[in-house]
Amino acid sequence: MKSYSTIMIFLIVGSLALSSCSDPKDPPLGVSSSVSVHPAAWIQKSSSEFHGAALESSNYDAASCQQCHGNNYDGGLVDVSCYTCHSNFPHPAGWTGLGDASHSKYIQANNYDFRSCKSCHGEDYSAVKVDNSCRTCHTNEAGPEACNTCHGVFAAADELGNAVPPAGLNNETDPSDPAIGAHQPHIAFFGSAEAACQECHIVPATMTDIGHIDGDGQAEAVFNGPLGSTVSENGARQPSQTGAYSGQTLTCENTYCHGNWGLLKSSSSNDFIYAADKIEGNNASPNWTDPNAAACGTCHDLPPKGHTPFGVQACSNCHSSVIDRAGNIIDASKHVNGKINVFGQEVPMF
Ligand code: HEC
Ligand code: HEC
Ligand code: HEC
Ligand code: HEC
Ligand code: HEC
Ligand code: HEC
Ligand code: HEC
Ligand code: HEC
Repeated sequence: MKSYSTIMIFLIVGSLALSSCSDPKDPPLGVSSSVSVHPAAWIQKSSSEFHGAALESSNYDAASCQQCHGNNYDGGLVDVSCYTCHSNFPHPAGWTGLGDASHSKYIQANNYDFRSCKSCHGEDYSAVKVDNSCRTCHTNEAGPEACNTCHGVFAAADELGNAVPPAGLNNETDPSDPAIGAHQPHIAFFGSAEAACQECHIVPATMTDIGHIDGDGQAEAVFNGPLGSTVSENGARQPSQTGAYSGQTLTCENTYCHGNWGLLKSSSSNDFIYAADKIEGNNASPNWTDPNAAACGTCHDLPPKGHTPFGVQACSNCHSSVIDRAGNIIDASKHVNGKINVFGQEVPMF
């Protein structure tokens, strides 16, 4: 009976207070419009009566608010939800899990802006006002700002090779998904994450670098790394200025690697090999999610346009450091390296 009458009192107080709030000109009979269970300056930040200050002094333990504002803080007996004014405090049930109510999903929905957490969890996320440190779970030196918090392998060291999809931002793992696409084959080709990423991205040094998380939800791919910037046709072809990826068509255009290059007979010391004014690649538009997009012959014909024709078994006569008589690439470091490899020599495309 005791708890029942307690609830009744709260209900009455609550409804009086609420009706006084919703229509101050018309308070319930016999009740002053200023009746409240809370101090007058309860929502004034500068006041010592401020509810935030009251909670701070109790280490942000909001359990005492539950009896009126509800077990989930979303209204309760008094129908005043904390979430009308706060988007995530007190933390909802499931906040530490993996489901829709998780802090991870909340942060994602907030365009990955989690600066607000610092006010309680500390500037370096290691517990300041509250005893709960983000670093209990986010154990890398950068805490939740580690590169692999949001993409790549979550439970791994904070290295570039662990920050690459899979997994994608939404935990995608399938190469048919653009978030994953041909990342892994490219890293295998370049031999290291450091060499690979810079060819297609401006790699942020920290999470907060300008241009990194820019709110459009689309990762930017640009092709101005050391290899992607290879210039040919005596300076006339600069693929890094036109290379582009489209998140709509999922294709890459005008990249050096996939054939945006040309050599001019007029400036070649090997002009005998030319069948036209120019030897050039196919300037292909490979689809990022098509595993066959870089088959032999897609980036350049065999041999390329404008080159005197030969059968594939003949290429090795002159390009012996790159290819064998069966037409296999025998040294990947000399093929798609921005250099002409012929007659045992290596010279720039320029
Ligand atoms: C005894 C019931 C009760 C308890 C316990 C309670 N509240 Fe309230 N709260 C109310 C009622 C009723 C209102 C409606 C407006 C009013 O009376 O100020 C309210 C309103 C509020 C408001 C909105 C005030 C405004 O002017 O819009 C805040 C903020 C608030 N409560 C915070 C808290 C916090 C934080 C706690 C726990 C430390 C807490 N309340 C505990 C009953 C309670
Ligand atoms: C009518 C709006 C309103 C409601 C309802 C409300 N708050 Fe607040 N609360 C505020 C405002 C405004 C601040 C100050 C925010 C700021 O620092 O910019 C604040 C601050 C706080 C802080 C301090 C945060 C910090 O960084 O130190 C805590 C804790 C808090 N509220 C808890 C609660 C709880 C628990 C409830 C529900 C029981 C609640 N609030 C309901 C408006 C509200
Ligand atoms: C107003 C203070 C406050 C703010 C702001 C705040 N937290 Fe918390 N956080 C707490 C308190 C207090 C706890 C202790 C448990 C609880 O009340 O849920 C906690 C606990 C947690 C936990 C569980 C820790 C554990 O060891 O189980 C996680 C995860 C968390 N917070 C994440 C966040 C994130 C992410 C943000 C920003 C989006 C954030 N918090 C903002 C006060 C805050
Ligand atoms: C109880 C362990 C735990 C605590 C404490 C914790 N996190 Fe997390 N956090 C995780 C897990 C697990 C994931 C990965 C969830 C997933 O893969 O969906 C995660 C994911 C994240 C993400 C990635 C979001 C995304 O969409 O990719 C961010 C950012 C983050 N947490 C920030 C924080 C901050 C800030 C704090 C402290 C205020 C914190 N976390 C405290 C366990 C925790
Ligand atoms: C809090 C989550 C989060 C963290 C931590 C994070 N990223 Fe990202 N990253 C994203 C999001 C979201 C995108 C998609 C960007 C967009 O919307 O433009 C992205 C995109 C990228 C891209 C693609 C290029 C681009 O800018 O769009 C690279 C490369 C990248 N991140 C590397 C890193 C590195 C390196 C770190 C660590 C220094 C890091 N990320 C830390 C969320 C994160
Ligand atoms: C051959 C070019 C290429 C290379 C090399 C490459 N990326 Fe990407 N990356 C892309 C493309 C294209 C996308 C955009 C896919 C899309 O449409 O969402 C992308 C997307 C991303 C995303 C966002 C994924 C998501 O979930 O939306 C991240 C993060 C990323 N790359 C990081 C890296 C890192 C880290 C490396 C180096 C280890 C790397 N990438 C190497 C082309 C590349
Ligand atoms: C008789 C010698 C010879 C044969 C055989 C030959 N090439 Fe070439 N190739 C050259 C020379 C010389 C150049 C360089 C032209 C220049 O320096 O202007 C060249 C240039 C190229 C280029 C363009 C630039 C670069 O990176 O080297 C490609 C691609 C190429 N050859 C592919 C092939 C393929 C594929 C075959 C076999 C189907 C083949 N070549 C057979 C002599 C040959
Ligand atoms: C991803 C695009 C791509 C694919 C696929 C590709 N190539 Fe190339 N290839 C190039 C580029 C770019 C060059 C220009 C020179 C350089 O950067 O090494 C080249 C040059 C060559 C050369 C001239 C020697 C040299 O490297 O300078 C030969 C021979 C050659 N390719 C044969 C082949 C054969 C055979 C295949 C299939 C097994 C093949 N290529 C597939 C992009 C490609």
